[in-house]
Amino acid sequence: MLHPESTEISFKLNNGVSVPALGLGTASPADRFVDTKEAVKAAIKAGYRHIDTAWCYGTEPYIGEALRELFQEGEIKRSDVFITTKVWPVYWDKVSQSLDESLERLGIDYVDMFLHHWPLCYAKVEDLVSGISDLSRNPVDALGKPIYDPKGDWLQTYKDMEKIYLDPSDHRVRSIGVSNYPIEYLQIVLDQCTVKPVVNQVEMHPRLPQLEMNKFCHDNDILLTAYSPLGSNGAPNLKIPLVQELSKKYNVSANDILISYHIRKGNIVIPRSLNPQRLANNVGFVCLNEGDLQALDNVGKINPYRYIDEDFAAIVPGFTGRDKVVG
Ligand SMILES: NC(=O)c1ccc[n+]([C@@H]2O[C@H](COP(=O)([O-])OP(=O)(O)OC[C@H]3O[C@@H](n4cnc5c(N)ncnc54)[C@H](OP(=O)(O)O)[C@@H]3O)[C@@H](O)[C@H]2O)c1
Repeated sequence: MLHPESTEISFKLNNGVSVPALGLGTASPADRFVDTKEAVKAAIKAGYRHIDTAWCYGTEPYIGEALRELFQEGEIKRSDVFITTKVWPVYWDKVSQSLDESLERLGIDYVDMFLHHWPLCYAKVEDLVSGISDLSRNPVDALGKPIYDPKGDWLQTYKDMEKIYLDPSDHRVRSIGVSNYPIEYLQIVLDQCTVKPVVNQVEMHPRLPQLEMNKFCHDNDILLTAYSPLGSNGAPNLKIPLVQELSKKYNVSANDILISYHIRKGNIVIPRSLNPQRLANNVGFVCLNEGDLQALDNVGKINPYRYIDEDFAAIVPGFTGRDKVVG
């Protein structure tokens, strides 16, 4: 049976905006920033129409260069590509400034999706090393402990994003959403804010199936975006025995299985690769059956495993370390 490729599938966000199900992740290592430009160009040529970035990744200027060339070459126009960026906790009270900086670096005048990267508030500490900003992205004290802003209010960040979205004279964002929000924070947003987030972007893959989060979000018409679907650096999830087995059963790559798992469940997925051949070869969609999906969920249902285990996130409920996550 013939299936569309993953790049041809899209979903509707709760505000009616259409989003391609497969996006390119761009949290590249600092020494590979330059390669990100070529990866974006290769991804677009392979059919990708969705790029995920963030103020804090440092890749926005390289994505901007790629877009400028793709527009000039007539490969795509701005409205053909869905671009997501995010506001980082150091700018928790400077949302508009963060958005302007992202737009300038990307060389565009709007983003399709603007996300609150983490529901926490960093203190503003000077840093002239990172090259991304004169503020430290991850301020820490002498003992290496994160420095939060004592006056910080994570909900204020979302409320400020909402103001931008709701202002009829402001056309900088087409939709707003969140990332790394636990269910209880999503509930606070639903109770206290006007605009429902269109997505919650979270780590998700067979080893961290996020079953409760899936139920909550789908019940509330919020899409999930799966980050680190391959298990991040080194792509360890490709070696999961069931993923290998399904790749043989369907005669596709293990990448295709890990990507199709999310799309088949109605979720967006944003794998990263700087390898143009991999980008072109891993767009096959497999219509995994219910049994396959359940078996993949079961991989991490009992002992879920989080690859992205940031120290600074320990104050967010549910992000208390690898052995305590809820799947
Ligand atoms: N919201 C958040 O807090 C958050 C957090 C983390 C990530 N994200 C987003 O999600 C995106 C994806 O997550 P991620 O970057 O952590 O990792 P990922 O997509 O799970 O894995 C990326 C790694 O897999 C490697 N890879 C891909 N295919 C492979 C293959 N066939 N064989 C061997 N290695 C392979 C890539 O190397 P090559 O480049 O060599 O292919 C790369 O090192 C990010 O880039 C970012 O956009 C968001």
